[in-house]
Amino acid sequence: MIPPLIETSKSEAANLQGKSTGGCPAASDGNPLLTPPAATSMAVPPSSTVYKLPPGLKHSLPWYASKPWVKLGSPILLFEYLHRTYGNIACYKLFGTPIVFLNDPEYIREILVNQAPAFVKERTVRRMKVLLGEGLITSDDPIHIRQRRIAAPAFHRQRIAAYGDQIVACASSQNARWESRANPEVPIDIASASMELSLEIVARTLFDTEVTEDIRRINDEVNTIMDLYNFIVAFPRIELFMKLPIPGIMRFRKSKARLDAVVDRLIREHKEATAAGKPDPGDLLSMLLSSRDEQADALGHFTGMSDDQVRDEVLTIFLAGYETVANGLTWTWYLLSQNPEVEAKLHAEIDAVLGTGKSRRTATLEDYPNLKYTEQVFAESMRLYPPAWAMGRMSTKPVKLGEYLIPPGAHFFFSQYIMGRSEEYYPDPLRFDPERFSTENKARRPKFAYFPFGGGSRQCIGEAFAWMEGIFSIATLAQRWRLRYAGNAPPEVQAKITLRPRGPLLMHLSRR
Ligand code: HEM
Repeated sequence: MIPPLIETSKSEAANLQGKSTGGCPAASDGNPLLTPPAATSMAVPPSSTVYKLPPGLKHSLPWYASKPWVKLGSPILLFEYLHRTYGNIACYKLFGTPIVFLNDPEYIREILVNQAPAFVKERTVRRMKVLLGEGLITSDDPIHIRQRRIAAPAFHRQRIAAYGDQIVACASSQNARWESRANPEVPIDIASASMELSLEIVARTLFDTEVTEDIRRINDEVNTIMDLYNFIVAFPRIELFMKLPIPGIMRFRKSKARLDAVVDRLIREHKEATAAGKPDPGDLLSMLLSSRDEQADALGHFTGMSDDQVRDEVLTIFLAGYETVANGLTWTWYLLSQNPEVEAKLHAEIDAVLGTGKSRRTATLEDYPNLKYTEQVFAESMRLYPPAWAMGRMSTKPVKLGEYLIPPGAHFFFSQYIMGRSEEYYPDPLRFDPERFSTENKARRPKFAYFPFGGGSRQCIGEAFAWMEGIFSIATLAQRWRLRYAGNAPPEVQAKITLRPRGPLLMHLSRR
């Protein structure tokens, strides 16, 4: 979800203290006259601390600007280069800040789980506050813990199970739309069809709302924001410039205002329904609106969320929840179209579980555990095309990783995309083979060799929801259709917040 060609402020660089040895240039030469950033408190290590940074680029990143692996907006190229050249831990520097790129499952576990209290979200995520405010993704503790406690009930397994029928109903409407399309010869854009489907699923299940024109508009606004995303997160101190008439920022502001208006309407309608005595639909939005954090309440600290907080949270969950799954589905259809043997096996499972001919029926919750190969297909697709393709953290304390000791203020990135294509864990990595996700094969790999949903206390809250949505959507559509890629060249990948195809991804549909 995060683009790692970060830009770092001098004040952050100044936070880096102590001496350093190792391949990557020293981080200790920050200007001590500059003050540390107000937002993050850093543990100050003793001045005698000797840091040891991993091997990596000798000069600051801009020095390599002419290299083919340094391209603004294509951070995957840089990560591939670092991995290829230096192995599973590498370091580079940007304006004095060391940036460590990791591709080792044990180091990733150190960051997300074992040493998690030593980290906060890194700068580009924090900059996303201009879009998401203080929602679950962008907030740090203590706000994050409270928000997570409040939202958690909507994502409990039992609750997710109750969404199953609605997911199948939404996918069946997609089937009906495809059946009745005006010209069956014309290919469809599977990227926008998948966005439409997952938007409908999130709107119905989590927010109990119909997909009206303005909900559909979310998609347009999100597309605009995605186009501007790299510009926005590369903009230092973006918060200070939000009111200026800079064209990119003006477009961003407009889209954000439209998104806020849709969410405000949802909130207003829910409140009006409650005031009119309508029964509580028990959806996520009602939970947020009536939120009580019992632990904080007991201490007299918390009296519910303000409207702005609810809006930040709704927008966060809406965006995190629909865009990711839609991209996961889009890439799955593409991969199936390129691998007819896998597709045949998928169809065989779906037919065995859901019947054929006159006894064909739609999936129900009881079928879910039996759609094992469908699950493996979705898992394998997210290995090659992980919707959240990279993650990052910033250290607030010295961090020990193997033989290295890395100072506070360093940034750490790791990429689901690079890990998923590592020969070490996935022999012949470009081959699409869902058998890699059989129970036995999964058990052979370290846990963090596959982390499409992150891990630790910030692990995706919607993971169980995403699996159910992915599996039921694939089963319901593949029950009826075979999709064939209509392009000549492989689709181009764009690493924005999510991994998206560049432009439409056209598919011919044929009835099975
Ligand atoms: C295939 C689909 C999805 C993928 C690949 C995905 C991936 C991720 C990842 C990697 C993170 C962790 C980010 C980090 O630690 O920096 C995350 C967090 C999050 N995701 Fe998902 N996600 C998906 C679907 C969903 C859905 C369906 C929802 C909600 C309906 C959702 C809501 C969230 C939220 C709210 C967070 C922040 C959690 C926290 O920090 O406590 N995601 N997601």
